[in-house]
Amino acid sequence: MTTRLTAVITGASRGIGAALARRCVAEGMRVALLARTAAPLQALAAALGDQAHAYPCDLASADAVAEVARHVSSDFAGAPDLLVNNAGLFELATIETMDPTAFSAVLQTNLVAPFLLTRALLPEMRTRGSGTIVTLGSIADRNVFPENGAYAASKYGLRALHEAMRAELRGTGVRTVLVSPGPVDTPLWDPLNPDERPGFTPRASMLRADDVADAIWFAVSRPASVNIDELRLSRS
Ligand SMILES: NC(=O)c1ccc[n+]([C@@H]2O[C@H](COP(=O)([O-])OP(=O)(O)OC[C@H]3O[C@@H](n4cnc5c(N)ncnc54)[C@H](OP(=O)(O)O)[C@@H]3O)[C@@H](O)[C@H]2O)c1
Repeated sequence: MTTRLTAVITGASRGIGAALARRCVAEGMRVALLARTAAPLQALAAALGDQAHAYPCDLASADAVAEVARHVSSDFAGAPDLLVNNAGLFELATIETMDPTAFSAVLQTNLVAPFLLTRALLPEMRTRGSGTIVTLGSIADRNVFPENGAYAASKYGLRALHEAMRAELRGTGVRTVLVSPGPVDTPLWDPLNPDERPGFTPRASMLRADDVADAIWFAVSRPASVNIDELRLSRS
């Protein structure tokens, strides 16, 4: 009997996370799907079959991150082979109009949660000498636009976190990959109506979630001796 490789994917109920979950299961992995809302998560897990498992949790809560890390490690009998820190919030507002609670929620979900989840799962990967951690950056991890203060601050921070991990893990066998797409047509854009906003990319001209999942799969499926440090994606 062959042992299946395992993956933990945050924000797996829709968009990029769901596309990647489908790809990982198609490639033969056993996958833990994490997101807050149980119903779509469980529906996706059911559609993907017995290699997909739903773990509803709010990653903005440090206690919930610790609890889900324990739960998944127990179910997988160890840290996963692949951790994808993908869950994210996108809020548009100027600095003067940004609700401080919304600002904190973006930083907590996009930056603090990946730190906490990685911190919980990394020690065993390091001891084992294998594993891949994928961080979902954005075009906004290097470029700042008006109304993007909270999101860009979180993504710049996330890129720094990734670069620190890369430096700390070089030579350990644990790989770290930053994947930074431009606009991707996912439900993230539903409340924002980019087609009607001057200066925004129309949805039909955005990348597809499967394009990003494909790029992530390319990075993680390289030989173990190869670390793709960073991938930046845009529409041709
Ligand atoms: N779409 C783009 O244009 C684009 C471009 C560049 C980078 N990205 C990045 O790619 C990642 C995925 O984006 P997407 O477009 O696929 O977004 P999406 O369609 O809005 O999906 C976000 C996912 O994150 C989950 N989530 C949000 N807050 C959470 C929390 N506190 N705890 C657990 N799960 C949470 C959501 O489920 P629940 O709401 O049920 O929790 C959902 O599964 C994000 O990091 C985003 O910043 C997106």
